[in-house]
Amino acid sequence: MLGLMADRRGDDRLLFRIDEKAYRLEVRPGERGGVSAVGWETRGPAELAELEERLVTAGYEVTRPGEEVARERMVSDLIRFRDPDDCYDHEIFWGLSTSSQRFASPIGAEFVAGAEGVGHVLQVVSDRARYESLFLDVLGFRLSDHIDLAPGLTATFTHCNPRHHSFAFTPKVEGRPLGVGHFMLEVTDLDVIGRAIEHIEDEPHRLLKTFGRHSNDRMTSFYLLTPSDVGLEFGTGGIKIDDETWTPTRYDTAHLWGHHSVDHH
Ligand SMILES: [Fe+2]
Repeated sequence: MLGLMADRRGDDRLLFRIDEKAYRLEVRPGERGGVSAVGWETRGPAELAELEERLVTAGYEVTRPGEEVARERMVSDLIRFRDPDDCYDHEIFWGLSTSSQRFASPIGAEFVAGAEGVGHVLQVVSDRARYESLFLDVLGFRLSDHIDLAPGLTATFTHCNPRHHSFAFTPKVEGRPLGVGHFMLEVTDLDVIGRAIEHIEDEPHRLLKTFGRHSNDRMTSFYLLTPSDVGLEFGTGGIKIDDETWTPTRYDTAHLWGHHSVDHH
């Protein structure tokens, strides 16, 4: 439906490719659905060691899972620390394997990935200041902008490459559990989005938010619920950030139009 390239490894590992990398998304069976780890790429061992030191200085407990896990993750090396809200592991790695096979989407989709990574993650967090400090001060992400969703409720968008945001977070509100609310995949062609929407008309219980466009990154997208109960935004046309000229701003809405939440109850 979304055009990812599947790579089945035995009974319990399902890898997905969206670009030249060996995989970008891994699905494993668990007792319940959800996100167990989010990976962040850095350039090499020196950068990994620097980030480790910065995290430790900031009070985070950082582990080095070692060779066996690195092989499983298909990276040269990684460090791991627990999300401040204890929802999943952050893994910072370098040297993610590149496949020798050309990426070929079963539906001819082309993903915006490569140097811009997988897409983005939006997380509902308990303490906005703590995440601002972690992502901006410790990990070195840069501020993209803020959206005031409601009085006293501000979402923060941060980037680490030209993609408008790779990590965004919003304070906890009633009825939304802490943790990853959705992750986003971007394609180059609006027709791929349109066809996916046609598919979801056959599985309407999967639709989370209708077709719409975001105010800040200008992404035209819709949201669906994966079989693991994680939200997935599928979009196209997101803007890029040039740090030389970018000036963060704020918005009073997340949506130019659409993105209506679908109530399944
Ligand atoms: Fe999003």
